[in-house]
Amino acid sequence: MADTGKRAAPGQDTRATHAFGIDFGGSGIKGAPVDLGGGDFADERHRIDTPQPATPEAVAEVMRELVEEADLPDDAAVGVTVPAVVRRGTVLSAANIDPAWIGTDADKLFTSALERSVHVVNDADAAGYAEVRYGAAKDQSGLVIVTTLGTGIGSALVFQGHLVPNTELGHLEIDGHDAEKRAANSAREKKDLSWEEWAERLTVYYRTVEMLFSPDLFVVGGGVSKKADRFLHLIDVQTPMVPAELGNRAGIVGAALLAQQEKEGLTPPTAL
Ligand code: BGC
Repeated sequence: MADTGKRAAPGQDTRATHAFGIDFGGSGIKGAPVDLGGGDFADERHRIDTPQPATPEAVAEVMRELVEEADLPDDAAVGVTVPAVVRRGTVLSAANIDPAWIGTDADKLFTSALERSVHVVNDADAAGYAEVRYGAAKDQSGLVIVTTLGTGIGSALVFQGHLVPNTELGHLEIDGHDAEKRAANSAREKKDLSWEEWAERLTVYYRTVEMLFSPDLFVVGGGVSKKADRFLHLIDVQTPMVPAELGNRAGIVGAALLAQQEKEGLTPPTAL
């Protein structure tokens, strides 16, 4: 592993504050050890192309390689994101992934492939929880809704620091359409929408979410949030709205944090 130059204070048990996060995305599967004190990578991130087709077994094999490469302590918590509904470790939907995932006990599959205990969570829940804990919504009280705008729209609903998992607000039906089909970043790219045109669609989307939940803050994430200055100010809602801060680290950091919390017996966030 690369030497990041980070040194532990004398007597500090760095292993206790480090967990490993893996983010399963459409084009790459990425993993990194996370310093849970600061909410950042503790060492360099490794990436392997997502296998095609991205069946559960093929993805598990890639995760095995990532963990092997990382040479983790045996007791390190490992958290994994999946872009789908995950309840008690089982994947229950497949809007943008191989249909073979539906019904897969991902906790069991990854635990056996990695030969260690693994905690599996929805990708937006992981990213959103990390933004609340370390990023754009740090210290925000009340209700925070984090959305990720990518191939689909992911959502994380966090109230007073507590995550309500699997909210799937990207699939709200608005004007007879699945919301993410019209308002995700992939819809902007596919239809070659201008920022203004896309922002009109996003306004319809976020006004619906606002009407249903009255949040205190919206955090807008996903790769396109790097370009927030092009479109965020064009979205016309009353709720304060800020871009995500952790960028593409959010999923890995959140997965690692949730895995560590589960290991410590804190409220298992996906077992509500
Ligand atoms: C899926 C969600 C996921 C989101 C972002 C949606 O299509 O249903 O589970 O969080 O895409 O990847």
